[in-house]
Amino acid sequence: MNKKSMAVYPGSYDPLTNGHIDIIQRGLKLFDKIIVAVLKNPDKTYLFDLDERCHMLREAFPDPARIEVDHFEGLLVDFVKRRDVTTIVRGLRAISDFEIEFQMALMNRKIEPRIETIFLVPSESYSFLSSKLVKEIYMLGGEVGSMVPDVVDRMLKEKFRRRP
Ligand code: PNS
Repeated sequence: MNKKSMAVYPGSYDPLTNGHIDIIQRGLKLFDKIIVAVLKNPDKTYLFDLDERCHMLREAFPDPARIEVDHFEGLLVDFVKRRDVTTIVRGLRAISDFEIEFQMALMNRKIEPRIETIFLVPSESYSFLSSKLVKEIYMLGGEVGSMVPDVVDRMLKEKFRRRP
């Protein structure tokens, strides 16, 4: 049997948004399986901890056959190699994403030339959407239900109910 074509879609997912989901669905048109890789960076403060971020992804994508949720610490290319994959998927929303994404793709290729990065463009209705803005809008009292999956909306409500 042919080896399944797989790609790694890495990110912070703090939190998962409908823009990420759109990219995953587009990725599934190109690959048999997408490994969603959640970064744990000990130097960064997240709103949702690693378990919560993995939980929201697993609830949004309960069937691991084509969408597997995993996590990593350290270099992305080391994780990609460990999973025996050679393609990284990233979303490109706008020109403003390009510079940093281009730099990361080239740096990852410099460290590990066998790994390619491909960029997928989300629906234009998500081109303005980011985890950072979702958090900001929610914290300032706005509604984000149309921007995130139900599980994230629920988890945001739970988290902020606990906070003063
Ligand atoms: O969702 P994000 O925060 O835009 O994702 C960024 C991510 C996780 C793809 C990037 O920060 C990353 O790959 N971090 C792992 C550390 C690493 O490999 N650094 C060198 C990349 S050039």
